[in-house]
Amino acid sequence: MKNAVSVLLSIFMLFMFPGCDGSGNSGSIPADIPQTSRADSASADENNREPASTPENTTEPAKDTNSDVTADSTLVVYFSCTGNTKAVAEKIAEITNADIYEITPSEPYTASDLNYNDDNCRANREMNDESCRPEIEGQVPDLSGYDTVFIGYPIWWGTAPRIINTFLDAYDLSGKTVMPFCTSGGSSVSASVSVIRNAEPAADVRDGLRASGAGDSNIEAWISDNNIR
Ligand SMILES: Cc1cc2nc3c(=O)[nH]c(=O)nc-3n(C[C@H](O)[C@H](O)[C@H](O)COP(=O)(O)O)c2cc1C
Repeated sequence: MKNAVSVLLSIFMLFMFPGCDGSGNSGSIPADIPQTSRADSASADENNREPASTPENTTEPAKDTNSDVTADSTLVVYFSCTGNTKAVAEKIAEITNADIYEITPSEPYTASDLNYNDDNCRANREMNDESCRPEIEGQVPDLSGYDTVFIGYPIWWGTAPRIINTFLDAYDLSGKTVMPFCTSGGSSVSASVSVIRNAEPAADVRDGLRASGAGDSNIEAWISDNNIR
């Protein structure tokens, strides 16, 4: 009798938990979803803006339930075509021990796309169209576990590239501390900060930083002045 019960129990377990059959599908993150990476190379969070319709993912994960993202977590988001902003983003992520996520355009920018001397180059056409929202490649990460979000970009024609608007449209950063930063040939960050404040009225958008490069000593001062760990 005891044996019969244990056989029945085994069959029941087999049908209830098919993910434990060694198929490798139990709770693994789909390979096609881009991951943020922590500056210290720790594993990334589950970055599904539109969760797959598995029972586990049908609701937005509650804050602090994600094992890789804790309260007070910091994310550095950046867009960079020629590497200047990327270098600053990596420096900020290192200083703050933050996760880092690169905004990658679905259609990468070529050198001729960025040739702002040509009125008709892609970058100029985008900046001449306020409603332009270049598509971001893949799915963007779940920001729910982050309290502080740095957003970095090059200045294009005095402000942030339109793909930053694409990012801002995709997110509600209400309640988060937002730290805008840029690189540029000399233009200030302030006009782009206004764009972010308008797009995220319920976020605490701090005064931004224009960095001359990763070695700019203003980076550390700006972070500590804003009491970001
Ligand atoms: C289309 C375009 C427009 C730009 N407009 C400005 C500008 O208005 N003011 C400025 O100082 N630099 C401007 N720049 C220079 C970039 O802001 C600068 O090279 C930046 O560091 C590039 O960052 P990245 O290497 O991360 O792409 C422009 C560059 C491009 C491609």
